Amino acid sequence: MKNNLITKITVCSLLLTSFLSNAQKTTLEVNTAKTITKIQPTMYGVFFEDINFAADGGLYAEMIKNRSFEFEIPLMGWSQPNSDRHSYNKQSGIATTVKVLKNKTNSNFCQVIINNDKGYELINEGFRGMGIKKDLKYNLSLKAANHNGAIKKITIQFIDKDKKVLGETNIVPTSNDWQNYTTQFIATQTEAKAKLKITFEGTGTIDLDMISLFPDDTWNHRKNGLRKDIVQLLYDLKPGFLRFPGGCIVEGRTLAQRYQWKKTVGDVEKRETLINRWNIEFEHKLAPDYFQTFGLGFFEYFQLAEDIGASPLPILSCGMSCQFNSGELVPMNELNPYVQDALDLIEFANGPVTAPWGKIRSKMGHPKPFNLKLIGVGNEQWGPEYIERYKVFEKAIKSKYPTMTIVSGAGPFPEGDYFEYGTKELKKLNAEIVDEHYYKNPQWFRDNAIRYDSYDRKGPKVFAGEYAAQSVAIASPDNKNNWECAFSEAAFMTGLERNAEVVHLTSYAPLMAHAEAWQWTPDMIWFNNLESYGSANYQVQKLFSTNKGTDLLAITRDGKAVTGQNNLFASAVKDVITREIIIKLVNASANAQDLNIDFKGNKFQSKGKVTTLTSAKLDDVNSFESPTKISPTESEIKCNGDKVSINLPAHSVSVLKLKLK
Ligand code: AHR
Repeated sequence: MKNNLITKITVCSLLLTSFLSNAQKTTLEVNTAKTITKIQPTMYGVFFEDINFAADGGLYAEMIKNRSFEFEIPLMGWSQPNSDRHSYNKQSGIATTVKVLKNKTNSNFCQVIINNDKGYELINEGFRGMGIKKDLKYNLSLKAANHNGAIKKITIQFIDKDKKVLGETNIVPTSNDWQNYTTQFIATQTEAKAKLKITFEGTGTIDLDMISLFPDDTWNHRKNGLRKDIVQLLYDLKPGFLRFPGGCIVEGRTLAQRYQWKKTVGDVEKRETLINRWNIEFEHKLAPDYFQTFGLGFFEYFQLAEDIGASPLPILSCGMSCQFNSGELVPMNELNPYVQDALDLIEFANGPVTAPWGKIRSKMGHPKPFNLKLIGVGNEQWGPEYIERYKVFEKAIKSKYPTMTIVSGAGPFPEGDYFEYGTKELKKLNAEIVDEHYYKNPQWFRDNAIRYDSYDRKGPKVFAGEYAAQSVAIASPDNKNNWECAFSEAAFMTGLERNAEVVHLTSYAPLMAHAEAWQWTPDMIWFNNLESYGSANYQVQKLFSTNKGTDLLAITRDGKAVTGQNNLFASAVKDVITREIIIKLVNASANAQDLNIDFKGNKFQSKGKVTTLTSAKLDDVNSFESPTKISPTESEIKCNGDKVSINLPAHSVSVLKLKLK
């Protein structure tokens, strides 16, 4: 009897505890019956910017730095350890660069004079070394003109820091005149800091140019293509668009140094090398060896977009060089060639193979159009000079290509005079999509989850084109891709998603960085010459972009959007193709939170899935040593018809997926 009483009291007190804890639980309501708006397929994309050695030395898999001797210091990247310039008679040999024909692009070549058999060596250091992998094949090509057949053999070797040979091949240069030679060899060891050594048999003179080396194992196995591991990371994001090639490099430090897409297509050898605008931008991060060979040019960007299923979004110079640098302006009466570049680009991307630019695309191997729908005019220009130029572009593009969507820009900051002026003027012009940039502290991102709630639904659409939480300060070299930054961006992204009616495109920036050659941090993807990994921010982006759904739904608490009350942020979508409801929940609080979610409109299968990203410390990061320290974990969750209870760990991002019945 006594025992029975104790049992009854225990049961009652358990029920009471559970009732009280349920009463304390936050309840969110989701209306699954009503679509607020469609989520644009472009909602989550990537912004490829040639900064941080992202192209040459990064995505573009070329391993030789300064392959055609066109850098400002023509032998930069090359060394000749046995060549003593001060004692011409005794030296083993010497390489100098020679310029030919003024009107030719890439006019330099390297002339090597071998004096004796004392072991002359020409060595390329790669991009902070060359990453080679045991048993993988490497393709070398070069052009040579062998004066009077003087040189009998060219030996090419990978070497390590102690000059140990890690793979070798050779070429017999048979012609007096310029001729192409190719050869393949295998690395015998994995080495992050290999170099390429070239030696010569025979004495006399040989001219060399376009000494190029690629891994055989590139993305899609394309000859002289892109780094497979890095493209895979992009592909895995399922990005809606690919914006390229920048960023400030579009504008250039001066107009002469702007990005000119026409110089980046056609024969790779003829693409004119240009100094990269980030070469000496930051005194604390000088990169005097940062140049653009344009091996990754506009054709390759379009092809990459196609490969990763993204809509291409090229950004063009609008006749204003970087306003943080020279701010040079092309006079209005000389703007025409710039506008023509935009029109020709559309023809290059979409035109028939019979049109002049369509023909070039076709000759490069892509007769089918690239289906370009979006084009950007200027990067992050500001002031009346921009508006004046934008109008000319808009008129020309729309008259010839009325269905092309034009992306304009509101300058570098998300508020202030430049921003207000730009957005006001662009609105008056009925601009279609306006690009906004924000590099702010993590708290700003959490506070700004409501940023777009008040945007005019009938005004221009938004491209959140560059954003990243800065753990220290904008462009500080001490910024880290830490967990606090990542989940704060996630909180902000729930706001982007909730406002999918106005926000049509979004992208984190910058996209990637070479761990030893970067100028700007944080970056979404980090790589060295052997490996790459996605930062915590990458994991957040991936969670959103691979769960973007098709239709926006309302998720509320007491009838209000969930925008940071109790440090909780939420957005909800339906995927009409997979028949799923997808809820994104960000708990920015240091405590776990229990939630009830009530769904109105549909019932669900009894088991759902929760994907969670979290980490113990705010300053946790992913790294080469621990590339998946912050990565998603999956678990099953029970669904009671139209109700779910979920626990959100402290500082976490969760994606709940339920299948419609
Ligand atoms: O992403 C780094 C730079 O930030 C971009 O080049 C520019 O558009 C912005 O100022």
